[in-house]
Amino acid sequence: MIAIGCDHAAVKLKNTIKEHLIAHGMEVEDFGCFSDASVDYPDYALKVAEAVAEQKCDKGILICGTGIGMSMAANKVKGVRCAHCSDTFSAKATRQHNDANVLALGERVVGVGLALEIVDCFVNTPFSNDERHIRRINKINDIESKYFK
Ligand code: RB5
Repeated sequence: MIAIGCDHAAVKLKNTIKEHLIAHGMEVEDFGCFSDASVDYPDYALKVAEAVAEQKCDKGILICGTGIGMSMAANKVKGVRCAHCSDTFSAKATRQHNDANVLALGERVVGVGLALEIVDCFVNTPFSNDERHIRRINKINDIESKYFK
């Protein structure tokens, strides 16, 4: 199950990504928002991040104007590794190296075609399970344990 969410700046791209994932046989839980009425992106980042952190969803996708605010907010949730990507190389690498569990995209940054390719890389690339990458992720977890309640 993929959790998806956006703010008012990215409803169109969110709907396109949702349809794309469903067309490729994936299940999607849509946490909103659902119109271009102004909302606050952290509210939607939190919904998606919590769904992933609580393992109700396997991965999350967050879209706002830039992807930056969504990624900042999502990364405040313990257990979330949100990668803000505007290219396919990063989307693939962040799955292989960082085991990123949330992707953040900017509707005002990437075109639809590139966004869908980034999404495909993110959902289809497995974590490498390489010992050095596991060690580094564990160090991220240590930082969480030090600074999060
Ligand atoms: C909304 O105008 C915009 O600030 C938001 O979509 C996002 O880009 C924030 O990081």
